[in-house]
Amino acid sequence: MVRLFGGAIVLAALNGASAAAQERVAPRTPVMSAQAMHFVDSLLATMTLDEKLGQLTQVPGQGTPTGPKALPGGEDEIRAGHIGSFLGVYGAETTRELQRVAVESSPHHIPLLFSHDVIHGFRTIFPVPLGEAASWDPELAMRTARIAADEATSAGVHWTFAPMVDIARDPRWGRIVEGSGEDPYLGSILAAARVRGFQGDDLAANNTLMATVKHFVAYGAAEGGRDYNVADISPQTLHDVYLPPFHSAVDAGAWSVMASFNELGGTPMHVNGSLINGLLRAQWGWDGLLVSDYTGVLELLNHGVAGDSAEASRLSINAGVDVDMVSQFFRRALPGEVKAGRVTMATIDSAVRRVLLAKYALGLFADPYRYADVARERATLLTPANRAVAREMAREAIVLLQNAPVGARPVLPLSKSVASIAVIGGLAADAKSTNGNWWGDGRPEEAVTILDGIRRAVSRTTRVTYAKGVETTGNDTSGFAAARRAARAANVVIMVVGEREDQSAEAESRASIELSPAQEQLVRSVQAIGKPMVIVLMNGRPLAIPWIAEHVPAVVESWFLGSEMGNALADVLFGDTNPSGKLPVTFPRATGQVPTYYAHKHTGRPANADVKWTSKYNDLPFTPLYPFGHGLSYTTFAYGPVTLSSPTLGERDSLVV
Ligand code: NOJ
Repeated sequence: MVRLFGGAIVLAALNGASAAAQERVAPRTPVMSAQAMHFVDSLLATMTLDEKLGQLTQVPGQGTPTGPKALPGGEDEIRAGHIGSFLGVYGAETTRELQRVAVESSPHHIPLLFSHDVIHGFRTIFPVPLGEAASWDPELAMRTARIAADEATSAGVHWTFAPMVDIARDPRWGRIVEGSGEDPYLGSILAAARVRGFQGDDLAANNTLMATVKHFVAYGAAEGGRDYNVADISPQTLHDVYLPPFHSAVDAGAWSVMASFNELGGTPMHVNGSLINGLLRAQWGWDGLLVSDYTGVLELLNHGVAGDSAEASRLSINAGVDVDMVSQFFRRALPGEVKAGRVTMATIDSAVRRVLLAKYALGLFADPYRYADVARERATLLTPANRAVAREMAREAIVLLQNAPVGARPVLPLSKSVASIAVIGGLAADAKSTNGNWWGDGRPEEAVTILDGIRRAVSRTTRVTYAKGVETTGNDTSGFAAARRAARAANVVIMVVGEREDQSAEAESRASIELSPAQEQLVRSVQAIGKPMVIVLMNGRPLAIPWIAEHVPAVVESWFLGSEMGNALADVLFGDTNPSGKLPVTFPRATGQVPTYYAHKHTGRPANADVKWTSKYNDLPFTPLYPFGHGLSYTTFAYGPVTLSSPTLGERDSLVV
């Protein structure tokens, strides 16, 4: 069921209306009490510069077989007051122990912040964000974020680097999977819902997580879809398309914002004072914590705007970046800059104040251990109730792309008592991919794969055979024969193709969004056998699948759906759930059509297939394969001529149409 939104026309109208509202000067957020301000300022007044810079320093942890830990020497650094926050260190016991070192042995006993990328679940894994966006259900997205927060905080995490709200219109960009797709309005609604879900009503509660809106800004506009690439867009596009979700998230109370890796119009975002201090802080009135991206300050050297760590740190903190993630430039280089008068103590104090206020708001000064709770951790992670919400969200995220009849009726839904089903494709049994990229603390062995889900759903007499066929990215065709044998012996073929989770992720841009040649070849070879066939796509970006669209009757988009993927997909395939997902992003026919999105501006020569001098391609239709908002259900609709109950309508009459 589609909730809340009518469709593209409504969205377009709202987008147009929103730009002016974005620019108003808002009251300052987050709001802090006078008591909090007094506490933090008194503390700040007693701190040395070295300790202050420690608060601005975030260091990474390291994964070990027993869980993520601080790097060797980390505890000494905590004792010295050189660390304000950790990235990727979690677990109630581990964080409790490090917190103890901070509050018992560091100079001012200031508690640490533990941050982690809790993107679509912590231990219970929900669909990847693009998949959740296909549900068009902000209320449910809020619930999944709430559960993620509940789980992560029980394991000692205070601060998540989500939601990612980058609008993305280029499926070559691997991080399109982390956002809500191409539309600023849908993106804004979901951004606010997720912030509310993570942060709840009271950040000091032991199960609420500080949210980070990222990546500020225009990261999704990377040229050519190449990750980390420059963005160069008009002010109009920036304000109408890329900024609205940030504004919405900040309005919803987001405590933190992360700067993006890209430069925008010639200025790297980590030194972009006019957008950080100017727009975000002064104009929008937001006064939360601005964190760099991973080594974002150090990368200013590669951007060519800074010659050394001192210059990079100065430009960055003066532009409004508060926390230096991983580079460790602030701590090492800013003392010299302060001494030379190039960075004022007031600037340092503002940044430190924001860190301390965040710690205060989280309640850490009152009880530094309130989040790390071994008993709560045990009781909270991956509960049946959490799995049930994961299954609900996963069902709603599935998009039925096509479902043509074979004989008298459409291929889907399938009967649970069909005599035999051949499941083909490595992804069908790939538990790691089932969870998608950014899996938090999710474990492959706890995810229900597509193959598992099908096996659990069918009748006792149904024979389910499985053949891998081909590796998702390999070109070894030796498994084709077994796949064809399985298909020949079955009544129905369910074939899972697409991408592994690590192909739809950071630094995973693709020059071609078509299926890998071997997968495409296998699909054709199995289709030629002539059995009723369902293609299930597993992917985190639009894929161009024109041959499949033309030759395979049923195609289902299943993204990476998380812990309950197989069960949810089986719910849809066998008709227990009527599919209701709608695409949050346009699916092109070929890579060469990129970028293609519904809210395209007019041209003076609108595309017309029959007229040469119009805006189109000569070798492909100008329309997409599946447009934004597309998604079928098992219901059929019939339209007839409109009839009126009466040809005339008096002032007090009613009319039935
Ligand atoms: C780099 C990514 O760009 C960002 O999204 C993430 O939060 C940080 N790494 C920390 O893992």
